[in-house]
Amino acid sequence: MTPHCFCMAIFVMLIIAMSSSSPAAAGDMVADTCERCSRSNPNVNYTLCVASLSSYPGSRRADLHGLALISAMPLRPGLAGIASEARELRDRAAPGSAARSCLEACMAVFRDAAYDLGKAVSAMEERRYGDAKTAMSVTIDAPVTCEDEFEEQGMATPPAIKGKSKPLFQQGVISLAIISLL
Ligand SMILES: *[C@@H]1O[C@H](CO)[C@@H](O)[C@H](O)[C@H]1NC(C)=O
Repeated sequence: MTPHCFCMAIFVMLIIAMSSSSPAAAGDMVADTCERCSRSNPNVNYTLCVASLSSYPGSRRADLHGLALISAMPLRPGLAGIASEARELRDRAAPGSAARSCLEACMAVFRDAAYDLGKAVSAMEERRYGDAKTAMSVTIDAPVTCEDEFEEQGMATPPAIKGKSKPLFQQGVISLAIISLL
């Protein structure tokens, strides 16, 4: 092998190594993070964690801080969805009924949760992870707090609320677990 060929071979190998290792390493970051989260918190669904984070193109290049911010993204539409479900049910509930007052309480709970989510995200942006964790904990309690309203009245939580409550909680648990790694 002439010195020129040798250099060329090294160069080609380097290119191959770089092009194959960087996307793989980045892909592993999502998987590794979800793995760590599901180990530290059994409520974290590993499959959902990987699918959810990977669905955001930015996740491929994100570090842990970036993944924490990404993990909060599905929570906003999730909260908006469950809040609008509560509003629709409230509008259909009989005036003065217990169901109506529970639904109004839930609407307030989800409104507060959206506010706390905003606080969690700005705390993350400012790298105040302790504050982010506190605000995110309050946010993810919202679906349970809403269900408690019905339970206290001896009523079943409307299936439409229950159906949106679990996925929201699962996403929230993932986000909280990632913040806890920071
Ligand atoms: C975990 O998430 C996946 C994908 O969303 C879902 O199919 C599966 O049922 C979930 N597992 C549990 C235990 O909730």
